[in-house]
Amino acid sequence: MSDIYLNGRFMPLEQARVPVMDRGFIFGDGVYEVIPVYDRIPLALERHLDRLANSLEGVRIPNPLTRTAWKMLIQQLIAREPEATQSIYLHVTRGVAPRDHAFPKETTPTVFAMAKPMAPPPAEWLRQGVKAITHNDFRWLKCHLKTTALLANVLLRQMAVEAGAVECLLIREGYLTEGAASNVLVVVDGVLLAPPRNHLLLPGITYDLVLEIAARHHIPFEERPVTESELRRASEIMMTSSTREIVPITLLDDQPVGNGLPGPLSKKLLSLYQELKHP
Ligand SMILES: Cc1ncc(COP(=O)(O)O)c(C=O)c1O
Repeated sequence: MSDIYLNGRFMPLEQARVPVMDRGFIFGDGVYEVIPVYDRIPLALERHLDRLANSLEGVRIPNPLTRTAWKMLIQQLIAREPEATQSIYLHVTRGVAPRDHAFPKETTPTVFAMAKPMAPPPAEWLRQGVKAITHNDFRWLKCHLKTTALLANVLLRQMAVEAGAVECLLIREGYLTEGAASNVLVVVDGVLLAPPRNHLLLPGITYDLVLEIAARHHIPFEERPVTESELRRASEIMMTSSTREIVPITLLDDQPVGNGLPGPLSKKLLSLYQELKHP
């Protein structure tokens, strides 16, 4: 693995150390970002840096780097990673301080960043689709912030894995929110439906890109609340994320979605999405 970045220095991962009193370790007091890189070019970089700035502001951690400095750091990470297709992980915590819930008076944020090779989703997933389960969304009410405190998401994803599924789709008060680590779009009566961007879900960059593709290609879509019953009668369901792109879900709670195979819209969107990688 190429060297990681920690607080201003590049170093081998094995040498990277964070004090146990880091509030990231103690409270999960931090935010992160994941940026896909194709042919050494980050996809939708400005949007990812906007979302990082927004997450930092949302938890009141001062942004430790300027936009130019973030971009320089990302370029350095990309150049050091041998594989051209990679993902960049950025992570900022409030820093090291004696344990107290309230913010410390003076502390320097901890900045950790790394690049790693990014494999495309398995071909089988795209050919056959994947299995997902549903669960009550028991996360907090600031899901629009990309915080490192992911225990609820971890438990929900683990439930999916233990059920032999790839993702857990979350339902809050009768409405679809998103997946444990993805956004979820559905096709009902030929219309692509996207749960609206609000505090109940992460504003996914892939979700944005997919809706923009739909608009450009005159694919009918609506950003509006999706009921659980619409989810269950959808002819297509897809999950979107920066590292897995668009993955069709063809089995939901052991029931086939549509005819049980990836549908035409999922395939079309996935193929159009590939064009974004090589503009
Ligand atoms: C909870 C959650 N929702 C949605 C997404 C998708 O966001 P993006 O498309 O920006 O990767 C992620 C990404 O990991 C996520 O963790």
